[in-house]
Amino acid sequence: MLLLTFLLIQLKIIWIFTANDGSNFPKDMNLYVTFPPILERRESIPLGHLRPLGWQRRAESPILEDSLNMEPARFYHLYVQGNRSVVIRGMVPSLDVLWTDSYLSKTYGHLNVTVATRKQRLVDTLIMMSLEIFLEQYRHDDLYMNTIIPDEMKHETPLPSLINCGTFRDRLLEPVLWISAGDTASLLLAHSQNTLHCVLDGRKDFIIYDFSNQSPRDFDLIRQTNGDLYSRIDVDLVNAYKYKCLHNIPWYWATLREGDCLFIPAYIFHQVRAHGRTIALSIDMAPPDTRDDFIGNDCEKNPPIYVSLNKGQFQWRYEHGTRHLSKRTITIEDARAYLLLLLGRNDQLYKDIFREFFHQATYELAKQDLTLPTANDLWKQLNNDENNEEYITRSRLKSIPSNILQLLADILQKSARIHEYDKFEL
Ligand SMILES: *[C@@H]1O[C@H](CO)[C@@H](O)[C@H](O)[C@H]1NC(C)=O
Ligand SMILES: *[C@@H]1O[C@H](CO)[C@@H](O)[C@H](O)[C@H]1NC(C)=O
Repeated sequence: MLLLTFLLIQLKIIWIFTANDGSNFPKDMNLYVTFPPILERRESIPLGHLRPLGWQRRAESPILEDSLNMEPARFYHLYVQGNRSVVIRGMVPSLDVLWTDSYLSKTYGHLNVTVATRKQRLVDTLIMMSLEIFLEQYRHDDLYMNTIIPDEMKHETPLPSLINCGTFRDRLLEPVLWISAGDTASLLLAHSQNTLHCVLDGRKDFIIYDFSNQSPRDFDLIRQTNGDLYSRIDVDLVNAYKYKCLHNIPWYWATLREGDCLFIPAYIFHQVRAHGRTIALSIDMAPPDTRDDFIGNDCEKNPPIYVSLNKGQFQWRYEHGTRHLSKRTITIEDARAYLLLLLGRNDQLYKDIFREFFHQATYELAKQDLTLPTANDLWKQLNNDENNEEYITRSRLKSIPSNILQLLADILQKSARIHEYDKFEL
């Protein structure tokens, strides 16, 4: 998930090199869980007090499903422009090679991945370890993997063709791979990006809240620098006295199993619970300006339902455990395109969003080259509107002069190629 990998650069990264002694009990791997829950009413206390999220109100109905053969334009009009979640079943194949623990460990065990552990139920801390060590621990310990998928694994991972053309193709940000064991609950959250979440193995239950008629402020929110919103509600033990609002907000549900995908538009609040051994892929996409119509000249008539993930042009890739821009050559127009992607569907690009992007893209270079201009230096040049230091409008972004964009493009390109310089110098 985006947040966790974003947090990564702000925390001191903790490296774990040894397996724990395995003294914890194995987790419960049962896949047969009743969901949505059957509510238990008691006279004296509010419904769902000290129960998991979802026990505070009866679910309205399952999330809408649509056909596997849906055309990209339909997907755009009904769900992206329409701001609606949708389930598509059977969209990704059962994995060509069975991703058993021993296969993953043998083939990809040396790769470094990002792993999250839950602290005091409310905060996820990120640690980095090899996939092999993760696989030795995850069936016992309180941790799950969520990593931008390493390039080496992409040829075995599916990318639905639905989002690999037209307006969608240029907005692919990053594919995140999840592996967990036992019951693992996410926090209640809303992403700043559109997400297509696909289950490759196991089971995931989703709760989606519908806020169309009220404000989510009562959720006790924390805003991340990348724009994502997290709620402080303890999703395993909800305080229904404090969060009375949960009795009033309608929610919808979906259970995804192997092959199923769920589209969740940006800023829709949701919570996820995985059961058993679960492997899932979530693909983040920058929300388009929904006033624009779908452009799909390059969309094939009857494409294969999926291709391999390495066919997708994602903005980010993962190398040496950190994010890098995928492009190796970054032109002025690429630099402008990155800025426009940061806008999503908004008309203003805020400084903190730019700063976060710049940190992510130049993290390693900035450590090596102390003379590198900072995000603030660049912002001052990009934003020459003195009345307005906090944001740049869409129309201004489209007309930033080339010489200023060139500076940004040069820095981004140098950062993207940082490991090529390593090799060159060797
Ligand atoms: C993983 O990280 C360790 C520690 O920094 C490093 O020595 C190793 O080369 C990395 N492995 C890969 C495949 O990048
Ligand atoms: C979609 O719905 C959510 C929740 O109601 C809202 O916060 C968000 O602004 C909406 N997005 C669009 C594109 O209308």
